[in-house]
Amino acid sequence: MYTNHVRCRACNYGPALVPEGIKAADNGEKLIPVFDLGLQPLANSFRSADEMQDGFAPLKVLLCPRCSLAQLSVVVKPEILYANYPYLTSGSVTMQNHFDRLFDDLGVAELNSVVEIGSNDGKLLAHWKAKKPTLKVVGIDPARNLSSLAFQRNIGTVVSVFDKEAARSANAIQPDLVLARHVFCHVHNWEEFILALAEMGGPETRYVIEVPYVRELLDNLEFDTIYHEHLSYLSIKAMEALLAKSPLELDDIREYPIHGGAILLTLRRRGAEIMRHVIVDRYLSMEDFDEERWKRFALDSCNHIMDLTTKVGELAVAGKSVCGYGASAKSTVTINACHFSHRHIRFICDDTPQKQWKFSPGSDIPIVDEGALIRERPDYCVLFAWNWSSEIIAKNNQYLAAGGKFIVPGKTLEIVP
Ligand code: TYD
Repeated sequence: MYTNHVRCRACNYGPALVPEGIKAADNGEKLIPVFDLGLQPLANSFRSADEMQDGFAPLKVLLCPRCSLAQLSVVVKPEILYANYPYLTSGSVTMQNHFDRLFDDLGVAELNSVVEIGSNDGKLLAHWKAKKPTLKVVGIDPARNLSSLAFQRNIGTVVSVFDKEAARSANAIQPDLVLARHVFCHVHNWEEFILALAEMGGPETRYVIEVPYVRELLDNLEFDTIYHEHLSYLSIKAMEALLAKSPLELDDIREYPIHGGAILLTLRRRGAEIMRHVIVDRYLSMEDFDEERWKRFALDSCNHIMDLTTKVGELAVAGKSVCGYGASAKSTVTINACHFSHRHIRFICDDTPQKQWKFSPGSDIPIVDEGALIRERPDYCVLFAWNWSSEIIAKNNQYLAAGGKFIVPGKTLEIVP
């Protein structure tokens, strides 16, 4: 189900890899364990009671002392993680606004063609095409179920993992912009990814990668964004180490509040007539994601998990009913870290049809439609999808008016109202 990961995927720090049976001299290089949630289920393996369960894998973060890349100690087979992927790009207002902002900030109105890697169900490309009907677009995504949704939106998709071959197929439209939103940190072999990127476009093409930034994870205690799909927790120092010998270089960095804090990295072909943005050096000078910083994060996360476990446990003992909102991958991490069961959290509301009437992975907590919050009126609702909290709280006024309360996990537990 998974392989162990021992060498840094950005700078290759780690023990020498030698053929089985041959002993190599110890080079003294070891990635440092800094965070460990033990064995955990795959965060998006939502199953109905009679469906095959996928099993558990270690969820442990290793830190590279050379380039500061944090990465999981195992790589779960992509065929298992992504064969039938239930994650749909959100259709929320927040997400539409983000697509609009990217359209403006990346100057898409002036472009002819865009390739999106990890195009999911085609929402972003369809949104951009509606704003600029002459824009040529192609998506690349391995999930068959999602690509057929994209085809229904008239978004052509190369159904494949992203590799050189997929890149060459998509390159038929000669992209001015290649976009990869929240897919880079799901990729195991970064060197191949960057080489496949470089197969597309020409000297002026921009390659834009949106990823969560490790600073937000550490500063905001977003431990629930650590799960098997997220193989790496990116720093700019690690990105620079990776790109050092590649045909592409880092040109610009921007920050966006989406998904708890993301950065947009713009890469260009080396030698393109573009001055390196001073911002890259500014980021490098501010980064301090060392072992000490990770150890503090691990301790704070443990305390947070204990606080939430105690709070929900006390409510259950006091006879209060508690549900959850947002069967996000984050919810799977929190539920399993807190050992919650149906006794603690009666159900989780979620608007994704593919998740409804299934169980939260690793637990017996059912996922139901959003209307259950009003129908069942639990006393408390844990907002597992905290990254959408303002939108979800705003649309559930009726629940609050009837006396319901949201528990919002963040740096501290907030009870609303
Ligand atoms: P999300 O935070 O997008 O992703 P991840 O799985 O990477 O943690 O997941 C949010 C979940 O919340 C998703 O399953 C959809 C659901 N949701 C609702 O049910 N209602 C809403 O109004 C919103 C915004 C999300």
